[in-house]
Amino acid sequence: MRRTEIKILLQRTDFGQLINVKGWVRTKRASKNVAFIALNDGSTLKNVQVVVEINDQNKDILERIHSGASLSVDGILTESLGKGQKVEINAKNIEILGEANPEEYPLQPKKHSLEFLREKAHLRFRTNTFSAIARVRHAMIFAIHQFFNERNFYNIHTPIITGSDAEGAGEMFQVTTLNLENIPKNDEGKVDYKKDFFGKPANLTVSGQLEGELAALALSKIYTFGPTFRAENSNTTRHLAEFWMIEPEMAFYDLDDNADLAEEMLKYVIKYALDNCMDDLEFLSKRQQEEEKNKKADERSMELIEKLNFILAEPFIRITYTEAIKILKNSKPNKKKRFQYIIEEWGADLQSEHERYLVEKHFKRPVILTDYPSSIKAFYMKQNEDGKTVRAMDVLFPQIGEIIGGSQREENFEKLQAKIKALNIPESSMWWYLETRKFGTVPHSGFGLGFERLILFLTGMTNIRDVIPFPRTPQNLEF
Ligand code: 4AD
Ligand code: MG
Repeated sequence: MRRTEIKILLQRTDFGQLINVKGWVRTKRASKNVAFIALNDGSTLKNVQVVVEINDQNKDILERIHSGASLSVDGILTESLGKGQKVEINAKNIEILGEANPEEYPLQPKKHSLEFLREKAHLRFRTNTFSAIARVRHAMIFAIHQFFNERNFYNIHTPIITGSDAEGAGEMFQVTTLNLENIPKNDEGKVDYKKDFFGKPANLTVSGQLEGELAALALSKIYTFGPTFRAENSNTTRHLAEFWMIEPEMAFYDLDDNADLAEEMLKYVIKYALDNCMDDLEFLSKRQQEEEKNKKADERSMELIEKLNFILAEPFIRITYTEAIKILKNSKPNKKKRFQYIIEEWGADLQSEHERYLVEKHFKRPVILTDYPSSIKAFYMKQNEDGKTVRAMDVLFPQIGEIIGGSQREENFEKLQAKIKALNIPESSMWWYLETRKFGTVPHSGFGLGFERLILFLTGMTNIRDVIPFPRTPQNLEF
């Protein structure tokens, strides 16, 4: 008999049909004559209840069924009289596909801590929380591609192994086939990269932007959606060493166009989640409220679904870095020295505490900050007339801080070349990027959305390690 997925089965009303369902046991309760098995196959948050009348034939099988076991059940689709479900299955035949020894299976039908589940990442998909996150993640991948496809953007695959450092941050993972126990040296006593796989140093990419720009300067509107790697040693709840980034790049867009697109995209995908993931969002909302029930009322988060609707309702605030610094300098936490990093003067880099103050306390709305000091931003950003600032933009979100970073790009060959020189970036590794400014250069802009930060926001989870299936962080490479 063909298997029916639980998501489909729960919508059926043709009671009396014989069907087959397969899945993993969440819980089993048994009285003398009847057993109830909650079965889940991941197609939906919801379980289906399998009702088994205990008899001599199935008694032994039932004894071997515990949480975590996988089953194939043939049974009659039946209208349920129980609360919270419309459909159940009256089992006729149960086959155990794989047992799970209750002495060893780590996921018991009780609440486990997120820390514990991180150590069991190979099994945590089987919990409500992590299956809900996985489904929301999928829906967001789909919505992002749909958003760009509807607007005539082309998806470009940019390289994962690269010879350049896009962000100039220098926090890269080196890729090599050299024998680290016996590194070949040249006449000067330095590493002889001629003997390495590519004949020169190579790294994992920190961003697909530079290659994305090359494509945009021919195809007009492109986007990338790929893995990026950063070897920064930051053990925060918002940083991963391997994360996914969406990077659109558009010819003929200035910074305002860029900000419009970023706002439109964020609202589009949030609306998509509200329209398509309500079961999972409702569950995640309850989970968050449960998690925060011991907090004081004013420290609790806004209810998840209310929060998502709230983002859709109002335009984002747009202000310059210079205006933001004024607000922050005069803010209570700055004056009372409650910020960890006190804002003393113009030029200071903003920390997430400052970003969150602007969004959560001052404006109570997402904020797009523009025109940052050039000294704290990447070399490729368009220089403003004032000689001090660049056409950068960061989109700041409640709870997250920076969710998007982007800019208008410097399209002037001489200015870009001078900047590259000033920052001691080897021009020999950037010749191809510079050539696009020599041949048919145009104003263009783009940004990068950190995918996991978006998922953090959408799910109300608080640690980025819980919104990617297998997180990579310093000293952590299991699975
Ligand atoms: O601000 P970033 O570094 O910008 C770029 O990489 C540009 N090349 C993007 C562009 O203009 N095309 O990173 C973009 C976003 C951040 O706003 C943040 O959401 C996310 O990527 N991000 C991280 N997410 C998780 N872990 C990390 N270590 C991250 N670093 C950045
Ligand atoms: Mg940034």
